Amino acid sequence: MSLAIKVNDLSMAYADGIEVLRCFTHSFEAGSFTAIVGPSGCGKSSLLRILSGLQSPSSGKIETKPDTSIGYVFQEPTLLAWRTVYENVALPLKIKGLNQQLIHTRVVDALALVGLADRQHALPRELSGGMKMRVSLARALAQNPDVLFMDEPFGALDELTRLKLDDELLDIWRRQKCTILFVTHTVSEATYLAERVLVMSSNGTLKDDIKIEGNTRNEAFRASTAFHEARLTITKSLEHNEEAI
Ligand SMILES: Nc1ncnc2c1ncn2[C@@H]1O[C@H](COP(=O)(O)OP(=O)(O)OP(=O)(O)O)[C@@H](O)[C@H]1O
Ligand SMILES: [Mg+2]
Repeated sequence: MSLAIKVNDLSMAYADGIEVLRCFTHSFEAGSFTAIVGPSGCGKSSLLRILSGLQSPSSGKIETKPDTSIGYVFQEPTLLAWRTVYENVALPLKIKGLNQQLIHTRVVDALALVGLADRQHALPRELSGGMKMRVSLARALAQNPDVLFMDEPFGALDELTRLKLDDELLDIWRRQKCTILFVTHTVSEATYLAERVLVMSSNGTLKDDIKIEGNTRNEAFRASTAFHEARLTITKSLEHNEEAI
């Protein structure tokens, strides 16, 4: 088993003394899909920011493979309004100093992966919410990420668009073989997408690590007993959380 990220005894307290992560320990296998759920404010976004290197922890250890490249998708698409789809996806690669030809190949490939090959000259205001999120995903994929961090990426979208994007994301994950850490508030989305669901408690500890059985993800899986039982287990774990507050 090869590990993408090994986290040991991670804790985080902000300057005002708010503790958001406590003794968080977990190993993320390379190529795995992990969903992270937990009550609002328990530290999910803080965890992703720390694991991706955007923020330093107060204590604890994070080990990653050398030269791990990362992609980050936020809840908001965070696109530059005055730049085209192509330019939005290309910008981080330009900042990295990649050569023009490589940038072009990466951008075209990423836009094809998210089904937006024909919209590269559009401006963000000409796109639907789902399309903007696809651009944001393409921008992360263009980094050729070994690890893709996703913080409630589809939370603001309507149900049907979200279900469609969930399936598209699974397709991309299988093809790209990257490691995905996916924060969501939607238990059914976590159950459908992930191989493991981590449940965090309101005090910032890792409460449960729930394995989701089965490899196929389709309508039949959504209707299966395995899906419903897993969803119930996660919901119960979250509910007990609430009782403990
Ligand atoms: N930069 C910061 N400075 C101080 N406190 C912060 C900062 N960022 C987050 N917090 C606090 O840390 C706690 C956890 O925040 P975080 O955003 O990680 O939670 P979350 O689990 O992602 O919540 P949500 O589900 O609502 O997105 C909250 O109480 C928040 O107010
Ligand atoms: Mg958050």
